[in-house]
Amino acid sequence: MKIATIVGARPQFVKAAAVSRSIAAHNADGARGGPEIRESIIHTGQHYDYGMSRVFFEELDIPEPHYNLGIGSGTHGDMTGKMLSGIERLLLDLKPDWVIVYGDTNSTLAGALAASKLHIPVAHVEAGLRSFNRKMPEEINRVLTDHLSALLLCPTQTAIDNLGKEGITSGVTLVGDVMYDSVCYYREQTQPSKQDSDFALMTLHRAENTSAPERLRNILDAVGQSPVPVLLPMHPGTRKKIEDFGIVLPEAVRVLEPAPYLTLLGHLAACRFVITDSGGLQKEAYFFRKKCVTVRDETEWVELVDAGANRVVGAEVENIIEAMDWAMTPIAGEADLYGHGDAADKIIELMLKQKSPKKNTDGHS
Ligand code: UD1
Repeated sequence: MKIATIVGARPQFVKAAAVSRSIAAHNADGARGGPEIRESIIHTGQHYDYGMSRVFFEELDIPEPHYNLGIGSGTHGDMTGKMLSGIERLLLDLKPDWVIVYGDTNSTLAGALAASKLHIPVAHVEAGLRSFNRKMPEEINRVLTDHLSALLLCPTQTAIDNLGKEGITSGVTLVGDVMYDSVCYYREQTQPSKQDSDFALMTLHRAENTSAPERLRNILDAVGQSPVPVLLPMHPGTRKKIEDFGIVLPEAVRVLEPAPYLTLLGHLAACRFVITDSGGLQKEAYFFRKKCVTVRDETEWVELVDAGANRVVGAEVENIIEAMDWAMTPIAGEADLYGHGDAADKIIELMLKQKSPKKNTDGHS
């Protein structure tokens, strides 16, 4: 069975690592009586800095991408259009049985669109997430990708319910979260955090926060009043915006280069709490039993809020300060909100079961 995997941005490398590992285990096990799986990895080049891309392949032992389209940054239309044409060319050549796409980035949408127009079935990992905010590019990417996919691999029941409300019920399965698979696998190999005092871990990169100077300034002002120092491994796009807007960072904020995965896990293990606008980090905070202050107006991971592990506070200074005080204590109780660390194995099993799925001509098979 031939699979083409489309990746391009940082969180996708972490997710694809779990699935590639499961493919390797399947093949090593004499293909467990089924066909051998041949995976071709296509990197769009959306993230291109060493610290945003290459280091993840090295650390997580992901097979070298077979193709790198080298597309880099641009406007959304420009980026997605170039990816669409580059991926289509490769898929015509490779003729895979499946295309796997991950999450909600421009690379996800381009991969799903190219494949579905060629009648190659699409498997969407992390299907069904919704923020219900169409101003986010990620929301547009998710909705369209889900409607183009034959296999919708959902991390939570909420995701399944969201798809049902849009009339998508076939090909939908609850598999758990591949990011939890990765944390279970790598937890023992984390790089211990070198911080010598208590700290909060912060990341910030969403366009809704970084493209509006007032909003960005408010968030940074507020975290400057954190009860503990704030460690901020900074996305290069955010760094550029802070410079462009002439924002001076508060003293409590220590800026670092973007963190490689195992270093980030080390910070998560050692920190007091997390402040973020990232989807992935909201869950990773929970996996390490740390509370999360989410500087967005909504979250896709609503079960974290219901479990008392996450507060969605927007960009109001007072709300952020209050939530940081709340976040100083760890999460109480135990719960398995995201499966059992075997989502990737379930995904591969499902794809093998549907080895020759009906081609995706009617939207869903
Ligand atoms: C993208 C995804 C987002 C995901 C995030 C993970 C979209 C629409 N958004 O956001 O869903 O959570 O990746 O990080 O696909 N840049 C560099 N070097 C790099 C990569 C980016 O300097 O290696 C800078 C560029 O100036 C670029 C900006 O960061 O314009 C934003 O990058 P982009 O890929 O557009 O979006 P992200 O914010 O990374």
